[in-house]
Amino acid sequence: MTTASRSTSTAADDAPASEALQDAFDTTRDTLEKAEAHVTSTRFPLNSAFIFTFGALGGMLFGFDTGIISGASPLIESDFGLSVAQTGLITSSVLIGSCAGALSIGSLSDRFGRKKLLIVSAILFLLGSGLCASATGFAMMVGARIVLGLAVGAASALTPAYLAELAPKERRGSLSTLFQLMITFGILLAYASNLGFLHHNLLGFADWRWMLGSALVPAALLLIGGLLLPESPRYLVNKGDVKGAFKTLALIRQDTDQSQVQLELDEIKEVAAHDTKGGVRELFRIARPALVAAVGVMLFQQLVGINSVIYFLPQVFIKGFGFPEANAIWVSVGIGVVNFASTIVATIIMDKFPRKRLLVFGSIVMTVSLAILSILNFVGDVSSMAVPTMALIAFYILGFAVSWGPIGWVLMGEIFPLSVRGIGSSFGSAANWIGNFVVSQFFLMLLSAFGNNVGGPFAIFGVFAALSIPFVIHFVPETRGKSLERIEEEMSAGR
Ligand code: BGC
Repeated sequence: MTTASRSTSTAADDAPASEALQDAFDTTRDTLEKAEAHVTSTRFPLNSAFIFTFGALGGMLFGFDTGIISGASPLIESDFGLSVAQTGLITSSVLIGSCAGALSIGSLSDRFGRKKLLIVSAILFLLGSGLCASATGFAMMVGARIVLGLAVGAASALTPAYLAELAPKERRGSLSTLFQLMITFGILLAYASNLGFLHHNLLGFADWRWMLGSALVPAALLLIGGLLLPESPRYLVNKGDVKGAFKTLALIRQDTDQSQVQLELDEIKEVAAHDTKGGVRELFRIARPALVAAVGVMLFQQLVGINSVIYFLPQVFIKGFGFPEANAIWVSVGIGVVNFASTIVATIIMDKFPRKRLLVFGSIVMTVSLAILSILNFVGDVSSMAVPTMALIAFYILGFAVSWGPIGWVLMGEIFPLSVRGIGSSFGSAANWIGNFVVSQFFLMLLSAFGNNVGGPFAIFGVFAALSIPFVIHFVPETRGKSLERIEEEMSAGR
């Protein structure tokens, strides 16, 4: 504890609340710093599997916290006696928080490093999950979900850049796809938790409290991981700590010899030497093509309607085809499994095909399946369309999961120059959350505007899937197999 803060604490009795708060803040910071110093000085056998798995863990919380509410919200609604609009706000408040979290984290991560901020987001995850599980009413729940959103948004802007900066160029696609794999695993866990806790008021706590509280476990893991993980070598070079960068690179490239590591470091140093100071103005000045590509990819990733399926599938089948609630939940679980399994395929193929080709492939699969789905539901007898609709949605999910799902986040970590990578990722990630918010807000309204015919909203998403093809061809750079430094040089030459 600092001398200044110690003197405040001796006068704690009559200290104003702000000083007491400052004192609590200092104590927490000191404790964390000690814990961090302790774990980093202890020799843990860190290997790259550990580093990439824990590095991507923010994705699991992202998936879990956005997926869990579909099961928990009807229970909260009846427990707190909420209106439909209030329940809607509980769902969307996390998206509002995420947008704010994503926007605020970028410049901080360029200043303080990816690792420290990952720790901060883990603390926010813990706080948000704890508050959600213990919420006593509507206002507290909305506040807690916003805190959770801040954490989700922060993790979504930090993690892709962190993974991309640690990975070797030949495997960067697959390793960065771990983030999306964690997201889909988190969504699946959320569905499982919804099913597992439903109607089980264990130890006298309502089922929905367990559903929301179960996020504490991965949040704690993320905190432990954050303390153990190394700082990004590229960030260290940017801050002048070349020795530290070498140490980290040597740690994560244990299978390569030291001269290779030195070569990689030299390349990073050389490009970093020409880098500017960063900041928003620099982002618009030096990285406009990267910004257009990142924001566009992220908006399309949402406007193809993925979360109408991830968040609202049970409602689609209940409203559109008269499914009983219990069966509709299982449809979600099935789709969650297809999503997760297809993302495993994505991690395997990501470095084997050019990213742009995969994106176009995914767009075609989504456009075709959404078009057939819409035509069938408009011209056919809706009452017999449930099964073909389910199959086409599974096909659509597969198309998304091997392309736009992972590549959106992979590209965002790759295409910004080092000096503005944090802030650039913030903008890309915020665009994703805005797109997500728009789709989530309007989907159910659209569905009812089309008389609960699912063909209506899905036809609109199909149009966006088709439009994404020319966008990829004209605005997205190819990044597979290139070092981040080479991508930076190519992007600035084409500026
Ligand atoms: C998207 C999320 C979506 C998830 C589904 C992610 O890439 O950003 O909004 O819920 O994929 O797998």
